[in-house]
Amino acid sequence: MIKIAPSILSADFSKLGEEIGSIERAGADWVHIDVMDGHYVPNLTLGPVVVESIRKVTQLPFDVHLMMDNPMDFVDDFIDAGADIISLHAEVLPHLHRAVMHVKDRGCKVAVALNPSTPIEILKHILEELDMVLIMTVNPGFGGQSFINSMLDKVKHLRRIIDDRGLDIDIQVDGGIAPKNIKEVSAAGANIFVAGSSIFNEDDRKLALETLRSRASL
Ligand code: DX5
Ligand code: ZN
Repeated sequence: MIKIAPSILSADFSKLGEEIGSIERAGADWVHIDVMDGHYVPNLTLGPVVVESIRKVTQLPFDVHLMMDNPMDFVDDFIDAGADIISLHAEVLPHLHRAVMHVKDRGCKVAVALNPSTPIEILKHILEELDMVLIMTVNPGFGGQSFINSMLDKVKHLRRIIDDRGLDIDIQVDGGIAPKNIKEVSAAGANIFVAGSSIFNEDDRKLALETLRSRASL
């Protein structure tokens, strides 16, 4: 099942509620929320207070991508604020299994995110527990970067492992997803597509979203 998750990192934060309304009307499936701490990634964005306040303006599921050094210090706050799915970066969690189980115990869906240089083998003993794997297709930190082509093989390899093991796990891709590459990424086996600049930089968000969805579905 194909899902499009616009990333509000590229939205106009002076009118965030309206921006979320525009992507909801345009047919978005999820709202992708990029949390950056200025340590793990060289950028700083938003915290649970903002998530709690935008929770009032939409019914769409909140897909919260934690790009921070100590995500377990804040994960409960994000769940309390209304997160529906939490993505945890494997690179910052020595006790990844414990962290994943904690999010599940809180009744929240859970994903593990992998930077471009992080091998998928890190997931070998934990895959069964996950709702989704997030394959970063840029180095995290900023919107508007170019898709890293070698991530296509990574997505293909992961899709093969998931299918061979008979699991039902979504593969999300995040970074540089655009009309020109979404078909190839979908064919590689991804089914949830984060898109920031290729939606929010367009005046007609509905057209932008429909273009992405139809190309991903081919
Ligand atoms: C990058 C973020 C992405 C970003 C994607 O660190 O995780 O979610 O907003 O933006 P685009 O689609 O413009 O690459
Ligand atoms: Zn993201």
